[in-house]
Amino acid sequence: MNGKGLKEGDHVVFSFLPACGHCRWCASGMQNLCDLGAGLLSGGRWDDPTDVRLHLAGTGEPVGQMCGISTFVQTTTVSADSAVRIPDDIPLDKACLVGCGVGTGWGSAVNSAGAGPGHTVIVMGVGGIGINAVQGAAHAGATHVIAVDPVELKRRKALEFGATDAVASMEEANELARGLTNGQGADSAIVTVGVTTADHVAQAFGAIRKAGTCVVTGLGRVGDVGLPIAISELTLFQKRLQGAMFGASNPNWDILRQLQLYREGVLKLDELVTRTYSLDEIQQGYQDMHDGKNLRGVIVY
Ligand SMILES: NC(=O)c1ccc[n+]([C@@H]2O[C@H](COP(=O)([O-])OP(=O)(O)OC[C@H]3O[C@@H](n4cnc5c(N)ncnc54)[C@H](O)[C@@H]3O)[C@@H](O)[C@H]2O)c1
Repeated sequence: MNGKGLKEGDHVVFSFLPACGHCRWCASGMQNLCDLGAGLLSGGRWDDPTDVRLHLAGTGEPVGQMCGISTFVQTTTVSADSAVRIPDDIPLDKACLVGCGVGTGWGSAVNSAGAGPGHTVIVMGVGGIGINAVQGAAHAGATHVIAVDPVELKRRKALEFGATDAVASMEEANELARGLTNGQGADSAIVTVGVTTADHVAQAFGAIRKAGTCVVTGLGRVGDVGLPIAISELTLFQKRLQGAMFGASNPNWDILRQLQLYREGVLKLDELVTRTYSLDEIQQGYQDMHDGKNLRGVIVY
């Protein structure tokens, strides 16, 4: 037992973002911005980033934990702040999907873009994150969900997850959205490209209507600065440029909410897993991801 009430035998999902529950952000319904996140890439403990929880057997060499979890191991130790207890009946090889990708994509559409009934939503990049933005936009009632990806498999899958159209480029998506909205443009465009660049953001920003929302969920190179967008377009068209961390989701609530949606047959999780791998096959899993062969690959221990 610990402060969070977790006990031996509980089933949990590891959230890629910790939530302490009492910092300003957690206390005001923005657990995705919990102050503990400052140590995400340090590899260390939340309570002491200079110390690590794991050490290599034999040499004792310290081993950092990416996002405080590290999941490519059979057993591990994490902070209770990174664990969310879930119902026992949810299969763990599906539950693992809601610790990052599902919530990030789904929330980017439902929370960050504010997708709603009748909306036209563009999702740029249909990987593990974007496919769930497609699901989220469809769940929120968007009438037109336009998925954009250069890879044919991704476009085909997007149509199975609720996209009404799937195209290979933003030029096509922009034209389509304008055709569907009497020339106004999409209500929102969500950028979920694997390595997001300033040009991707500018393309999405250019495709939204007046007072529309451009959500940037994809990450680029950390040092990249500057966006090629016209300041006048931002001001005069009252457009909104919105960053999104974990799709503005609260891990301790949204992970359970999404698993409930899965149980009720609303949220697709089984269909997200193109292939499972053993831990020994992890390099193949990475290769398949780079080759665009799977939506999600899951390691089963
Ligand atoms: N903000 C967050 O909280 C958060 C959380 C997790 C991941 N991410 C980021 O989200 C992004 C997407 O992650 P993922 O796991 O879905 O990656 P992924 O590699 O599975 O998918 C990226 C997709 O983008 C497509 N793509 C590439 N160039 C494109 C273009 N010009 N136009 C349209 N599509 C294009 C690829 O074909 C691929 O299908 C990454 O940058 C990742 O780091 C953000």
